[in-house]
Amino acid sequence: MDNAPIGIFDSGLGGLTVARAVIDKLPDEEILYLGDTAHTPYGPRPIAQARSFTLGCLDELASRGVKMLVIACNTATAAALSDARERYWIDAHIPVIEVISPAARQAVVTTRRQRIGVIGTEATIQSEAYLNALAAVPGVKVFQQACPRFVEFVERGQTTGPEIEELAREYLEPLKEQGVDTLILGCTHYPLLTGVIGRVMGEGVSLVTSSEATANVTYNELTDRGLLHEPRADGDEPCHQFLATGESTMFPRLAKRFLGPEVGNVHQVHLPEPGAIA
Ligand code: DGL
Repeated sequence: MDNAPIGIFDSGLGGLTVARAVIDKLPDEEILYLGDTAHTPYGPRPIAQARSFTLGCLDELASRGVKMLVIACNTATAAALSDARERYWIDAHIPVIEVISPAARQAVVTTRRQRIGVIGTEATIQSEAYLNALAAVPGVKVFQQACPRFVEFVERGQTTGPEIEELAREYLEPLKEQGVDTLILGCTHYPLLTGVIGRVMGEGVSLVTSSEATANVTYNELTDRGLLHEPRADGDEPCHQFLATGESTMFPRLAKRFLGPEVGNVHQVHLPEPGAIA
């Protein structure tokens, strides 16, 4: 048993979709969430910069005594996973969970015609992290598409309406033409757009999100490693904490909308400049 919180990190709001799924599956656990709102979006940035920002944020969560780190961001996973595993798991024995391989595995068991589409930020698509994760699966064809502007719509809470629908048609049409039957939403912001993405792709296409699949891995890892929180007595509710690196007033409002009533106050943290990270 381990009563320390689970650290969940994203460049902004998107990781809240993973936090929601973790809270639903593990209601006794406490979450410490950090959104790097000072630097969001990561998607258009060079990989090296996304990597430094990610490690800075993970350092902050690790220094606050979390028992596990969940990188709830595809871009950050693509940029920094192997460094993070070395830094926290090998050096400090804090298990590191990521979002790419759980979603890739889920897509493999979901696809019926072995045609999988992947959408994500520019950085995630360029990194080819999903192509690599699916490369060893015989017979599967993978079609990628960057959807760079989706994140900015989600970060301002605009998840419905004609503008986002037109953008979705523009991004998703090439994948429809390829006849994909399964679409990986390879960005943790995109589950907030499943309405419009589902409408554009049509009923025959299954959407796979990182959130459900990653929450399942989190559940399994905590159980297998004996790190679950001890069972809570009646009335002993977990006290989740939400941190943001920027000053946004939008974050607390949208965080409540996207995650739910569990979001209390959002506290601002100041992190050292990335240049100072070893
Ligand atoms: N939520 C992040 C992801 O899963 C991307 C958002 C960003 O561009 O910062 O890739």
